[in-house]
Amino acid sequence: MTSEKRRPIIAGNWKMNTTPEEGAALAESVLNQSMQVPDLDMVVCPPFTGLHAVAERLTGSSVSLGAQDMHWESDGAYTGAISAKMLLTLGCRHVILGHSERRTIFGESDDHVNRKIHQALTTGLLPIVCVGESLDERESRRTEQVVTVQIRAALSGISEGQMEGLVLAYEPIWAIGTGRVATPEQANSVHHHIRSLVEAQFGAHVSSAIRIQYGGSVKPDNAHELLSQPDIDGALIGGASLEADSFIAIAQAAVS
Ligand code: 13P
Repeated sequence: MTSEKRRPIIAGNWKMNTTPEEGAALAESVLNQSMQVPDLDMVVCPPFTGLHAVAERLTGSSVSLGAQDMHWESDGAYTGAISAKMLLTLGCRHVILGHSERRTIFGESDDHVNRKIHQALTTGLLPIVCVGESLDERESRRTEQVVTVQIRAALSGISEGQMEGLVLAYEPIWAIGTGRVATPEQANSVHHHIRSLVEAQFGAHVSSAIRIQYGGSVKPDNAHELLSQPDIDGALIGGASLEADSFIAIAQAAVS
């Protein structure tokens, strides 16, 4: 594996927070402060209802728009679902897929995640693909096994060329929204494992280029330690992305 420098990518997952007005105001603050951190990719992922208002603020800027989920079919009788084309029309560049809240609360399977990734890549959206183990799985030393199954299933049938622009995110479930963050060593070791899985499937060229974000209670005060690890290329941020100041502080830690 080469030590090629990867451009950090920081994404804010706003989850089920913010009205369109609140989202637009938050995007505006992020945008105003984003000039302080030019050397990384920055993405904000509002709820579906806020995409339009946030897109209006971000047009022509270097902050990208992402959605939090989408359906795997292009259209049809799927009440409540949102298609890739709808997201692209609203100006989305990225889409978070396979978030653990989608998997555990909404029953999304590895197969659903794989189908969504194919649909995103076919239509031109860049997926941020999430994997991660539960507390029980970590305590029973099954982290690598769980993540291996998730990664292999997620990337099944994906071509080497399609991996360009795809981002992976390691989010241990026990660290999400709990304030209990993985240690830099714990996180880096899983990132390293994920990179080796990518290498086994796609070769060293892809594995050395792919960006792997860490997510789970990332805050300004723990970001630097995590983000200075060799295999951690950015952060997927929940709670701390709801304030522009803390989101930007984490972005600064990624390039410092
Ligand atoms: P928190 O940063 O709130 O722990 O959430 C992480 C997450 O789930 C991002 O997708």
